[in-house]
This record gives sequence, structure tokens and C-alpha cells, in this order.
Amino acid sequence: SKGLPLSGKQVLITAGPTHEAIDPVRFLGNRSTGTMGFELAKKAADLGANVILVSGPTHLNVNHNNIQLIRVASAQNMYEACHEHYGDVDIAICAAAVADYRPKSIASEKLKKKDDDLNIELERTPDILMSLGEVKTTQFLVGFALETQNELENAKNKLKRKNLDGIVLNSLKDDGAGFGGHTNKITFIDKNSGIKTFDLKTKPEVASDIWEEIISRIHA
Ligand code: C5P
Repeated sequence: SKGLPLSGKQVLITAGPTHEAIDPVRFLGNRSTGTMGFELAKKAADLGANVILVSGPTHLNVNHNNIQLIRVASAQNMYEACHEHYGDVDIAICAAAVADYRPKSIASEKLKKKDDDLNIELERTPDILMSLGEVKTTQFLVGFALETQNELENAKNKLKRKNLDGIVLNSLKDDGAGFGGHTNKITFIDKNSGIKTFDLKTKPEVASDIWEEIISRIHA
């Protein structure tokens, strides 16, 4: 694998949703399938990298010599797995749809149905990407942003606030972009405000575009 653009590089990628337990049989989740993160992992491995893929619950699987898949459930689990490996990586991409809130306490028994309404108190989960930005040394750190208004402005602010080197903006305004589907339409923004907008493409193609943007910047 010598001569490939990512040979010798260690890469960390997060993918998928997280599941935040309510009781032993219930959770709060979201519709992320993990496709974008898995495609980013496969492309990185094909380009010669050693990849640690930390994924929330998904039906996807991957079989590649250069990919170590770590399956996790909650945001807290994902946070711990990421920090365990972050010190060893050259590039990290957070593509997971991490829950922003979790139940403040997890019931030890299955909650019983009552005639009354039920309230579940929620608390914030850790922001994994932000926490990686805070302890960043030499890593090239990339996040995703899914914005519905003032997209560029919000994405740029997020890049700054989370101390990122690049951010991938997907617009929900674009048909076929985002969750669940097989296509995506992205804009890549770097920390020097370099901006590149791409056409609607399949997720494997989008993964190639993202890696091209990252590689041109780590070798610059
Ligand atoms: O702030 P927002 O949730 O829009 O940021 C999205 C980016 O942050 C994505 O890259 C996502 O993977 C990451 N994120 C995270 N941990 C969270 C929330 C978001 O890593 N708790």
C-alpha cells in the first residue's frame, strides 16, 4: 500500500445513530443508517489508511483488512471509544448522528403503562466532535453539519466553535440529500474559509470527494 495517498495514516471515523436507553427495552434514536460514515471508512482503507470505525447501531457491516469496526450504542460509549483512539490518529471524521439528549436516568425495570401521561427528563449528551477539537494536537479534524437555515454561516460558526479543520455541510433543502438516502449533496468548507460545492452524487462518490478535499489539505 506504499504510494497510496493515505498509506501510513491512521484514521478515526464515527458513523450511524446513537441509542439512548430509557429502560431495558426502549431507547431514543434517530433515522441515521450509517451509510456516509461506512463509505468514508471504505474509501480511506482503499486509499491505504488504517481505519478505526466507531459505529452506533446499524445494519451495515464491513469486511476490509484495514478497517477495525467498533460497535457502540450510546453517545457516552461512542465518546469513550473515540477518546481511547484519538491520540493515535492523523485524521478524524465525525459523521455520526449523535443524540443531543438522553434520559437523565435509565429505569432498571421496563416502564409500566399507566393511564397518566409520562414525562421523561432529558439531559445533554457529550458533544464528541467538540471534545475532540478541545484536545486536538496534530489531527486533521472534520465534522458534518446538517443545517436548515443560514447554512454557510452556521457551518462556518460550527467549524470555529468546535476547532475543526474542515466541515461537510449537507443541505436539507436539496432533494436527495442527507439521512437514509443513497445520495448526498455537500459543500466542503475549510478553516481558511476555502469553499467547494459539489453536485448531487451517490454516497460512495461523495466519500471520494471528501477524501480528495482532505488529502489536498494534509499534503499542502
Ligand atoms: O452541533 P451539531 O450536532 O450540528 O454538529 C454536528 C457534528 O457534530 C457532526 O459531525 C456530528 O457527528 C458531531 N456531533 C458529535 N457529538 C454530538 C453531537 C454532534 O460528535 N453529541
